[in-house]
Amino acid sequence: MAQAEANYDESKVPEFKLPDPLVTFNGKKIKNVKQWEKKRRPELLHFFTENFYGEVPGELKIDDVHLIEESENALNGKAHRKQVVLSFKKDNHTLDYTMLIYLPKNVEKAPLFLAYDFLGNHTITKDPEIVISEAWVADKPSLGIINNQLTEQSRGVRCDRWPVEKIVEAGYGLAVIYYGEVDPDKNDMTDGIHPFFYVDDQEQPANNEWGAIAAWSWGLGRALDYLETDADVDASKVIVFGHSRLGKTALWAGATDQRFAAVISNNSGCGGAALSKRRFGETIARINRSFPHWFCNNFKNYSNNEQTLPVDQHELIALIAPRPVYVASAEEDRWADPKGEFLSALYATPVFELYGKKGISQQEMPPVNQPLLNTVSYHIRTGEHNVKDYDWEQYIRWADMFVK
Ligand code: GCU
Repeated sequence: MAQAEANYDESKVPEFKLPDPLVTFNGKKIKNVKQWEKKRRPELLHFFTENFYGEVPGELKIDDVHLIEESENALNGKAHRKQVVLSFKKDNHTLDYTMLIYLPKNVEKAPLFLAYDFLGNHTITKDPEIVISEAWVADKPSLGIINNQLTEQSRGVRCDRWPVEKIVEAGYGLAVIYYGEVDPDKNDMTDGIHPFFYVDDQEQPANNEWGAIAAWSWGLGRALDYLETDADVDASKVIVFGHSRLGKTALWAGATDQRFAAVISNNSGCGGAALSKRRFGETIARINRSFPHWFCNNFKNYSNNEQTLPVDQHELIALIAPRPVYVASAEEDRWADPKGEFLSALYATPVFELYGKKGISQQEMPPVNQPLLNTVSYHIRTGEHNVKDYDWEQYIRWADMFVK
């Protein structure tokens, strides 16, 4: 949705020079994969870590895995369903989060889409067996969500975003987690996973330490740790998917954890796939003001100061190379800057080419609903900021080509 005060006029996009992903901060040209992996990739990853998403301050492994529910007869007999709780402990802190997993019954070790959902696992299908999360949720009275609690009333309300049967029929598993179980999406750093690493009476991370996006990304990494132990899953083929703020999260998870086989960014926008230096739609200042907890504190240094950034989001996408990455926009989602998302995919392409992979090979955005499918893929669909069947149809087609 378009928002006030933002620039939506292409002629008012400031002039800017994008950093070349294949030139180091010291001006050295990167000529091959070895130089990229030894020198450039680490320096970019370090910059994004220290100035955007923040460092994870320590290591924490899953303490306990608990299968709370399982059925061989889900989705009218088509799927095997599991609900698995991952538990974490440190000092006096505990955290549990639940993965809902659907797997195709006719595939021995399934490739799988891993994702967060916005409103609880029970919202993705009408399946009455899905446990309702007790975690904090922002109120949404229209969906019966009041007093920060999820109830029966919201069961299945997000079905339209999750074509679970189609995914399973295509031979993929789907695993989802309610993101609020890992870190509640509010400007309070004393809940969720953050306090596990505080010393004494610390109440927020240091300036270069993780905001919520990095915390959610961390949670995806631990979900993958679990999936590596699940005999029904091919953990070498886990595609991390996310929409909007969770698309930003999926990109960061894919950049920081190279075990993810592929990444899908659906309408991820500012701090996700969209170039910051265009200042089109949402800007760094706006996102830091509205969501001060998403990025690390150092990111605030770039509010209204994009021109001094020595990186831009095409280099976040480049960090995923050579693994497949799909950037998707929606025509009416100007807040997320579709053109800036396209350009990121385009300008990340040289890094993929270093590996002999194909990215975006045309300078112009494709027309609506005409996907460009390569290792780096892009589409802009008609309609608003959302996840539609159309999007999933392309993701499945692309995963068949580049992951399965
Ligand atoms: C807001 C925010 C975006 C974000 C979106 C979402 O619109 O400004 O950055 O992507 O919420 O997560 O739905």
